[in-house]
Amino acid sequence: AGAALVRMRVDEAPAGAAEGDPGVLRGLRIGIVDDGQGVALALRGALEEHAVRAEVVSGADAGFDGIVDLSALRAGQEPVLPTAFPGYRRALTGGVGRLVLGSTPGSGLHGFARSAALEFPDTLIRAVDLHPKEDPSRMAAQLLSELCDRGGGLASVGYTAQGVRITRRPAAAPLPPSVETPGVALARSVLGPGSVVLLTGGARGITARTAVALARATGCHVELVGRTPEPVGQGDGFVHAGDRVALRAALIGSGLRTPAEIEAAASRILAEREVRATLAALAGVAASVRYHCADVTDAQAVRAVVAGVRARHGRLDGIVHGAGTLRDGLLRDKEPAAFTEVFTTKVAGARNLAAAAAEHGSSPAPAFLALFGSVAGVYGNRGQSDYAAANDALDGLALTWAESFPGRVLSVDWGPWAAGAGGMVTPELERAYARRGVPLISPEAGTDAFLAELAYGGDVQVVLVAEGGADHE
Ligand SMILES: NC(=O)c1ccc[n+]([C@@H]2O[C@H](COP(=O)([O-])OP(=O)(O)OC[C@H]3O[C@@H](n4cnc5c(N)ncnc54)[C@H](OP(=O)(O)O)[C@@H]3O)[C@@H](O)[C@H]2O)c1
Repeated sequence: AGAALVRMRVDEAPAGAAEGDPGVLRGLRIGIVDDGQGVALALRGALEEHAVRAEVVSGADAGFDGIVDLSALRAGQEPVLPTAFPGYRRALTGGVGRLVLGSTPGSGLHGFARSAALEFPDTLIRAVDLHPKEDPSRMAAQLLSELCDRGGGLASVGYTAQGVRITRRPAAAPLPPSVETPGVALARSVLGPGSVVLLTGGARGITARTAVALARATGCHVELVGRTPEPVGQGDGFVHAGDRVALRAALIGSGLRTPAEIEAAASRILAEREVRATLAALAGVAASVRYHCADVTDAQAVRAVVAGVRARHGRLDGIVHGAGTLRDGLLRDKEPAAFTEVFTTKVAGARNLAAAAAEHGSSPAPAFLALFGSVAGVYGNRGQSDYAAANDALDGLALTWAESFPGRVLSVDWGPWAAGAGGMVTPELERAYARRGVPLISPEAGTDAFLAELAYGGDVQVVLVAEGGADHE
């Protein structure tokens, strides 16, 4: 069944006070993006007392020695990301030496800061959770101390209501041992007969593995969402081309010429094959299976899918948001459109699903909403500022939604799965992990751990990595 997984919870830990002499800022030019609540003005005043040239600006940009972005604190503020990304990119690539981001839960700014700090090791980059009830002058003092603190290397901190500086760290938190298998416990306690589970991204990759495992354990109805059109007929006419390399050759043979055309056609055929294989696997174990071709970033489409499920089954018991995309690249090369795609697939997708699922009307309340996140959000990752921001946002949203959602909300931050699971870890990436000695999650261990989490877990955010995997972060 492969190596066991390590389960971690992400807990608050004291971070020690920020230390630094505001004198180091003397004469510097600091831009403060306004919060409209008086914090920017208080910070400007505090900076001017230390002979800093501080000005309130409308957005982050190059041309400053430091930027403090407080736009997340604005009342009724639209999410800061992805809109703020181009300004952060200009600031970081334009030589701004200090970037401090005032953060609110679910903004994703911590994941962004953790990744950006790895790509710009000489720049002070830090996301700071400010306590919403804190007095503006105290917040300004906290931000001032962050701006001149170069020690510790922390990219992610927060302040409690008592003004204590904290950070968040994963720590081992195994589930208690149990006599039942997770699948049996899940079928008995969470997903009884007639249960319905909707999985975005569930026709492919690790979420498809999850769908099959859920159906096998509980016999539930399965509803899948993805952008790939539902394949029609038995196959694709390239049966002898089993992988991407063989497909390329076959497609060239069929008359395709440009590399872009060939890659697009190969990706489409491989995606259709994966969808077809998942539907076939589910046909044998699920009470019923249906595929919906829909984009999770389209709120209306998500609402229609959820309404359709409830109209047909009279219920929706579990939701797994596994839809995600990668557009890896260093921040300096990252196109804003790529950042937006990666961020919104996860975050707008989750918002659309949570809103649609919560409005259950007279049908039973959903038992769970599970969001698939990544260790990239927890630790940050070079080349994944968009993906890390998105996954960190999911963690924050889960913590917020847990207080109001009618069922359990759970964010699972996965370590990398083995390529055999079919997901984002390609065979090439798998070899790179192997060279670094990073263990990967086997499909069986991953789906077992997820079933156990649903059956026995109670935390909102968990990190699940292959044994030994956490040592590499
Ligand atoms: N594999 C890993 O090692 C790993 C590690 C950590 C976290 N995760 C997370 O696990 C989830 C699944 O990853 P995976 O590795 O299985 O990747 P994958 O094979 O690329 O699967 C991603 C899925 O998302 C769907 N999707 C993408 N954009 C969508 C959109 N806008 N609307 C609807 N569906 C969309 C894709 O289907 P279409 O292309 O048909 O739309 C596909 O089914 C992701 O959230 C990922 O971040 C994976």
